[in-house]
Amino acid sequence: MAKSKTFVCSACGASSNKWSGRCEGCGEWNTISEAVPLSSGPASKSLGARRGSAVPLTDLSVEEAPPPRAASGLGELDRVLGGGLVPASAVLVGGDPGIGKSTLLLQAAAAFARKGLKTIYVSGEEASAQVRMRARRLDLADAPVRLAAETNLRNILTMLEEERPQLVIIDSIQTMWADNVESAPGSVSQVRATAHELTTFAKRHGVSVIMVGHVTKDGQIAGPRVVEHMVDTVLYFEGERGHQFRILRAVKNRFGPADEIGVFEMTGAGLAEVTNPSALFLSERGEPSAGSVVFAGIEGTRPVLVEFQALVAPSSLSQPRRTVVGWDGGRLAMILAVLESRCGIPFTGLDVYLNVAGGMKIGEPAADLAVAAALLSAREDAPLPAETVVFGEISLSGALRPAPQTENRLKEAQKLGFTAAIAPAGGKIGSGGGLSLTRPADLTGFVGDIFGA
Ligand code: TYD
Ligand code: MG
Repeated sequence: MAKSKTFVCSACGASSNKWSGRCEGCGEWNTISEAVPLSSGPASKSLGARRGSAVPLTDLSVEEAPPPRAASGLGELDRVLGGGLVPASAVLVGGDPGIGKSTLLLQAAAAFARKGLKTIYVSGEEASAQVRMRARRLDLADAPVRLAAETNLRNILTMLEEERPQLVIIDSIQTMWADNVESAPGSVSQVRATAHELTTFAKRHGVSVIMVGHVTKDGQIAGPRVVEHMVDTVLYFEGERGHQFRILRAVKNRFGPADEIGVFEMTGAGLAEVTNPSALFLSERGEPSAGSVVFAGIEGTRPVLVEFQALVAPSSLSQPRRTVVGWDGGRLAMILAVLESRCGIPFTGLDVYLNVAGGMKIGEPAADLAVAAALLSAREDAPLPAETVVFGEISLSGALRPAPQTENRLKEAQKLGFTAAIAPAGGKIGSGGGLSLTRPADLTGFVGDIFGA
């Protein structure tokens, strides 16, 4: 039987059985290439004596129950991992080049090693001397981490078999190459093959593997999305080059909550944990100004306050501008439409700019009301009452829905010195009720309450 070929998109990882110029999955051009089949050798060994047979769930003995997670002591990292590193798990840390992945993982390696985990840091990008230099700069030179500068996967696996570490960090997966795969390092086939081998090795030997994956803009090098499905946990390290804030975000976690975030600040001596992100994101806020609204959000398990900034200005374009940073453009269009058709407030002929301060990205629908407030405040050139937070979801009918975890949002606002909140009726207030609350039933009521329209 002729072997069927597989083609994979280097941008989104979608696979198909024929080549095409444009990926049907993500719409990118020239990102499809042929994938070499993965080695099938070691996979069957991984199940050991019980290969191919099933056992009742209740038969798992206590010894086989997973040992407790290893905490690094870096609280923000441990939280994102779901409370620490699970033994024999595979973690992918993706992010733009230069965002600070190597810095983060060298600090993590040192932290885990100091907690007694035997840790090896494998760099395919820098020589050991360079890594050592970085460690010295981060004041980690005395941490009991072992370093290796190697890109050949076979050599790495051999070394790991000998050294038997508990944690291995691979920086980066795009520099690794398996010699049984005939394509260049960084290609889809190589990245998939090496990530597969490393993940299998991790499961078989009880080693945790953390792999770095650079997010790539062109189709020549495979991005981290190609291996997302293979690993247990996928974290993305985000931030703006110009800002010192960095956010580590869990987008997939078999062993913990997804959507959890850890916040760091890039300093001259590496990444510092930010234990109170709300205070950081609001630190640049000045006097109350038109178009600025503080949103009480929830990121993962933690409330986080961020500032939305809107600017509304007469447009000279036939199709006015709608520019969004840190929020969803489609959602902005929806809110503008609801304001226009349900409240009779048009934005035609006006350019609209919306920005989330501090380089945060917000995905919660509960931000709707804060966005509407920012847009109205900017349009009317009227600041909101000082020290007020806003949250709540807006439906297409103009009705308002209470946001989940209302109580936690109010408590966080109170803790940070806010005195008032605007949130839809409904939702448990609890002890967060110390704030002066405005609870509109619908968007028209909200506009009336706040802007007296
Ligand atoms: P790096 O960890 O090398 O990024 P990545 O591995 O994601 O490509 O970080 C690169 C940037 O971080 C670089 O521009 C310098 C900056 N940096 C600091 O600001 N402080 C530090 O202590 C270190 C080590 C790096
Ligand atoms: Mg790096």
